[in-house]
Amino acid sequence: MRPPLNLLLVGGGGREHALAWKLAQSPRLRALFIAPGNAGTEQPAAAVPLINCPVAADDVPGLTALARERAIDLALIGPEVPLALGLADALRAAGVAVFGPAQAAAQIEASKAFAKAFMLRHGLPTARYAVFTDFYPAVGHLLAVDYPVVIKASGLAAGKGVIVPDCADDAEAALRQIMLDRDFGAAGDEVIIEERLTGAEVSLLAFTDGTTVRAMPPAQDHKRLLAGDQGPNTGGMGAYAPAPLAGPEAVADWTRTILQPAVDSLRAEGRPFVGVLYAGLMLTAAGPRLLEFNCRFGDPETQALLPLLETDLVEIADACAHGRLAELDVCWRPGAAACVVLAAAGYPGPYTKGRVITGLDTPLQDAVFFHAGTARAGDQIVTAGGRVLAAAGWGPDLPAALARAYQAVGAVHFEGAQYRADIGRRALANHHPHGEQP
Ligand code: AMP
Ligand code: GLY
Repeated sequence: MRPPLNLLLVGGGGREHALAWKLAQSPRLRALFIAPGNAGTEQPAAAVPLINCPVAADDVPGLTALARERAIDLALIGPEVPLALGLADALRAAGVAVFGPAQAAAQIEASKAFAKAFMLRHGLPTARYAVFTDFYPAVGHLLAVDYPVVIKASGLAAGKGVIVPDCADDAEAALRQIMLDRDFGAAGDEVIIEERLTGAEVSLLAFTDGTTVRAMPPAQDHKRLLAGDQGPNTGGMGAYAPAPLAGPEAVADWTRTILQPAVDSLRAEGRPFVGVLYAGLMLTAAGPRLLEFNCRFGDPETQALLPLLETDLVEIADACAHGRLAELDVCWRPGAAACVVLAAAGYPGPYTKGRVITGLDTPLQDAVFFHAGTARAGDQIVTAGGRVLAAAGWGPDLPAALARAYQAVGAVHFEGAQYRADIGRRALANHHPHGEQP
């Protein structure tokens, strides 16, 4: 076995608690430092200590200094913002091995204009589009196209930069909002007007060392706040994997035709991509289409994927960071996993904080609580964010996994908690892989 490592995990949401939980199972871990972490990632007294460090996830110099101080061997970067800021480059320059793409490769998520041009250049299937920097030409384009559109701010906008308008007036209002009112700041300097597609959505994530690609089971998330996919968009209210509408053959096919060519083309363009490449796919009647790439693990997909991962995540991250992924088999358990997000009252609008959470120490079977927006207050754990917790469950099939996850939901309490009671339901109903699902 290779020697044990000091790891740094950057981020503090539900995705990062799931990563910390999985990393902590590795015999190769000496210590795990999480910056900034949350109340779930802190276990300083454990045999292998998990230590939260009060450094923000976007503080590149602070994190680089922390990596030196703690003699970090390998860093994993959770969120997109530090990747877009060049944290992976800064850490590599400081001699740290990194699981996460360099700034140049993170452009695949940080600039939708770059991503769309990249897809076009390399023949990757995606919707028709045009890019604008000025309002009036953009409005002119709206009048010229004969198909419904989606309006996208090109830069990072915390998942809020995509508007799916109901009519031409709403589309113009969206352009006004992004280009004139500058609701998303500089993220809206470039705007994409894209053909609106219909179909079910699948998240296909893959580990890559820049050359070799190992796809994960396909996942589906639930972006709307309320049951039946109603209400406002959120960061994600739950997820499940594997998505039954994408069987192993489809995954193999999309890996060969989308993920592998994307990784090969990024390398060929001098932007080798190391980490997790996430393809957001829409399954249209004409075949799969790329809606977006993300340069990192999904949140909350990760909370439903990692319970299925059999292979040591430290081994995978280390292999990717050193270009050795081809030497490693990445294995997944049979069965399914799901997670249900518990959010604070008011989320995704202004929400309450500081509510005491009870029931977190309830013994669970085949389930775990992943903290997201939580903090310690004395000997209590309180809410500290919009998405507070994800209850993740797993089992031999999706109904079993959902039953475990909802059992955990029932065991935990905080005032005003809201969650969706229908996570995974569309996967249990009859599938309409080529039509929008209700
Ligand atoms: P993105 O951040 O690009 O994945 O967009 C967020 C969400 O907007 C997606 O999950 C889709 O539900 C929707 N969306 C994005 N692009 C399109 C499109 N071309 N057609 C229809 N819906 C889209
Ligand atoms: N679950 C969507 C994302 O992580 O971007």
